[in-house]
Amino acid sequence: MFKTHESETLFDRARRVSPGGVHSPVRAFRGVGGVPRFIRSAKGAELEDVDGNRYVDFCMSWGPLLFGHQDEDVAAAVHAAIGRGWSYGTAEPYSLELAELITREIPWVEKIRFVNSGTEAVMSALRLARAATGRNKILKFEGCYHGHADSMLVRAGSGLAEMPVPDSAGVTASTAADTLVAPLRDLPAVKAIFERHGREIAAVIVEPVPANNGLLPQTEEFLKGVASAARASGALLILDEVITGFRVAFGGMAARAGITPDLVTYGKVIGGGFPVGAYGGRADLMDRIAPMGPVYQAGTLSANPVAMAAGLAMLKKLKHGNFYNALENATEGLASEMEKIAAHAGARVKVQRFSSMFWAVMGDVKTDDGVVRAVSEIPSTQKEVYAKSFHRMLGHGIYLAPSGYEVSFLSAAHERRHLDAFLSAFKGALGA
Ligand SMILES: Cc1ncc(COP(=O)(O)O)c(C=O)c1O
Repeated sequence: MFKTHESETLFDRARRVSPGGVHSPVRAFRGVGGVPRFIRSAKGAELEDVDGNRYVDFCMSWGPLLFGHQDEDVAAAVHAAIGRGWSYGTAEPYSLELAELITREIPWVEKIRFVNSGTEAVMSALRLARAATGRNKILKFEGCYHGHADSMLVRAGSGLAEMPVPDSAGVTASTAADTLVAPLRDLPAVKAIFERHGREIAAVIVEPVPANNGLLPQTEEFLKGVASAARASGALLILDEVITGFRVAFGGMAARAGITPDLVTYGKVIGGGFPVGAYGGRADLMDRIAPMGPVYQAGTLSANPVAMAAGLAMLKKLKHGNFYNALENATEGLASEMEKIAAHAGARVKVQRFSSMFWAVMGDVKTDDGVVRAVSEIPSTQKEVYAKSFHRMLGHGIYLAPSGYEVSFLSAAHERRHLDAFLSAFKGALGA
């Protein structure tokens, strides 16, 4: 067993000064129990905690680190940027270069605005959609996470798909009432909502590959159906590509599925691990943003030059390298090996994967197509079985996201030996 004395000591101290001892809830290990490991350094695909334990990382800071920790190209760009000063609060050339790269390569992003997080990107895109359409309601999907802006902290209660229930205390009933929620996979339900509320809906927002409540891949038919239902009612389509942008393809899931959004939101990969979010889309919409138009949105640290340099290094490397196929093949190989190991051990595990993300479904999948695509289809055994597996994997030096509803991320820094370590830990975990 690994020693955890130092992590325990720090966690005790942290709980005295911060809620739950953390600065983002899942980090507190509530989903799996036990003490969060305090990480003191990371390199490539590996983490080292304050007790000196080493782990192969499959959480990867929740998605931004497509090239692993301390990628040398991103590091060089960041060091150079710091040498020029780290915040100017005025116009500078670095965000311009990043904006030009993105608008050149992604046709539906005619204009872009940088912010500091995915949450801010979504919040701003929703405000813009409401202003542009003169409508108030937003349609989202059950299980899709779009950050913590008030109006997005609303889910569908089962059987109450159209009855908004705030997920978070502190969200007013009137805010929640403007958020409609549809189940994933279910196009007839989406159409029914549009029939009833079509004229009030400013935008539909969707994670094109939902990856925050398990990995729940949607069919292209579903995504295209949602897009055309939105169009038919005059609502805007916002693709939330905070996870999928630059990860599933340079042009994100919009490029892969051939769907043109009106607005798109980015985060994670776009900042290479630094705090960056962005929203962009049709120029006629984006030109409604201040100072051009009446929709206010601003930020002291927006387009921070160090973060812009990191994002630029990341995106240039992605654009000019050949990473996507290799990452997808490695993920596919890992997932199918996991399923073989599980089958051999007589365990009911299905590994859903998309691009460089994977998620193990722990229990019986009862859907007709054998895929879990909606929250209601996740087996009830998920949380409990995952929690046990998580600790066994951790004990074998594998760091996964500390929640059975979060996906794992592969990076270009994961080498064969890291994948082998994962598989051997997985075998051990199932054996136990
Ligand atoms: C799809 C999606 N949208 C928005 C967000 C919010 O981004 P941030 O955590 O940077 O505020 C996330 C974060 O996980 C996300 O996955």
